[in-house]
Formats: sequence, C-alpha cells, structure tokens
Amino acid sequence: MTREASIQQRFGGISQGLVHLREVRLLQGLLDTPTAPRTALDLPSGVGRLTPLLLGRPGLEQVVCADLNRDRLLRLVAGFPAARPHVAQVDLFSGLPFPDRAFDVVLSIRFLHHVREPARVERALRELLRVTRGALLVSYYGTTWTHSAQRTLLRALGSRRARKLAALSPAHFAQLATQAGGVVQSDRAILPGLHAQRIAHVEPAAAG
Ligand SMILES: C[S@@+](CC[C@H](N)C(=O)[O-])C[C@H]1O[C@@H](n2cnc3c(N)ncnc32)[C@H](O)[C@@H]1O
Repeated sequence: MTREASIQQRFGGISQGLVHLREVRLLQGLLDTPTAPRTALDLPSGVGRLTPLLLGRPGLEQVVCADLNRDRLLRLVAGFPAARPHVAQVDLFSGLPFPDRAFDVVLSIRFLHHVREPARVERALRELLRVTRGALLVSYYGTTWTHSAQRTLLRALGSRRARKLAALSPAHFAQLATQAGGVVQSDRAILPGLHAQRIAHVEPAAAG
C-alpha cells in the first residue's frame, strides 16, 4: 500500500479527517515561531502523514523521519521522491542514534497514547528531550469523560483499541515531563470536549 493509501485508509473518514486537520492546524501554529527551526525530527513518523508540515518549510535545512517500522519508512520515502527526506529506523526505547540537542524541533505525534506505563512515558519523554534543542511537540491522550465513554463503547463493541489507548491527566503529563527534564510551555486539546488527544509544547529545562 502506498503512503497516500494508508493515510486515506486511516484518516479518510469524517471524524478522523477532522482530527487530522486539527492536529495539522495546531502544529502549524506551534511551528510558526519567530526563529525558524533549522533541524527537525519527526518520531515516530509512520508513513509521514505530518512530514509535509516540515518538508519545504522556509529555513528548515534538515528533516529526519524516524520510526521503528521499516516498511512505513520505505513508503514514506517513496511518497516524497523529490524531497528525499532522511529516514532512520529506530527504537525510541533503545536510545536514539542522535547527539544531545541535535534538533531545533522534535515532533512526536500519536505515540504516547500507546504507552501504558507512566514510567515508560517518562523514559520516552527523557530521550525525546535529550535530542531536542528547542521545542518538543508531543501528543498524548488526556483523561476526559469523552475518552472514558469512548473506551467503554469500544470495549462493549469488543474492539482491541479500547485496551490500547493510555490516558494521562494534564497535571500528570506535566509531572512526567518535569521528571524527564522538560518544562511544559503549552498543552491544548485538539478538539476540546470531543477528543482526548492533546498536543503539548515542552522545552528542555535550562541546564544547571
Ligand atoms: C500511530 S503511528 C503515528 C505516526 C505519525 N506520528 C502520525 O501521527 O501519523 C505510531 C508509530 O509508532 C511507531 N513505533 C512504535 N513503537 C516505536 C518505538 N519503540 N520506537 C519508534 N517508533 C515506534 C510505529 O511503527 C508507528 O509507525
């Protein structure tokens, strides 16, 4: 399946399409900073759904897309024949093959809600923050009554997704980010009251 077909399959419906648009809109706002980032990491990139936000962005000289899944990376590369983004097959939990503070901006979207243990969320945040010089834009699922209702419904329907989605309160997320060496600058629901996903802007705490 091509990159485009897999994105269409996952986000082609009305509700997921809306979620995609809101994520893109929020991320665009967060990327529009007075000092344009020069280096960016998209991890996990998947097939590169959000890569167009980075490729061709004025001032961005290096975009690295990293993911555990090699097949997704191959589809990503095939989807951008002209731009040819750098790709890296990595396991976030095995340590990233990048130096400290390597990237001005790091995107980590739709990953943490698959990580159920808070200690592992903290570990993932620590490693992402290690390679971040400027902003880590990271999504997670907040605990909301809509999320609980969604889980109950999915469970009633026998869906495996109900067990897979992990949620944190914004206060708990901020605590884990602080323990991981970061400072939360902003944290917003993508669709307040309608969807549990939030996007936080976290920066590495000043050294010393
Ligand atoms: C739901 S996708 C999100 C992709 C992309 N950020 C997006 O929003 O479309 C989650 C991705 O996490 C990747 N992944 C899972 N475990 C990983 C790990 N330990 N290290 C790096 N990537 C991982 C999967 O291969 C998958 O492509």
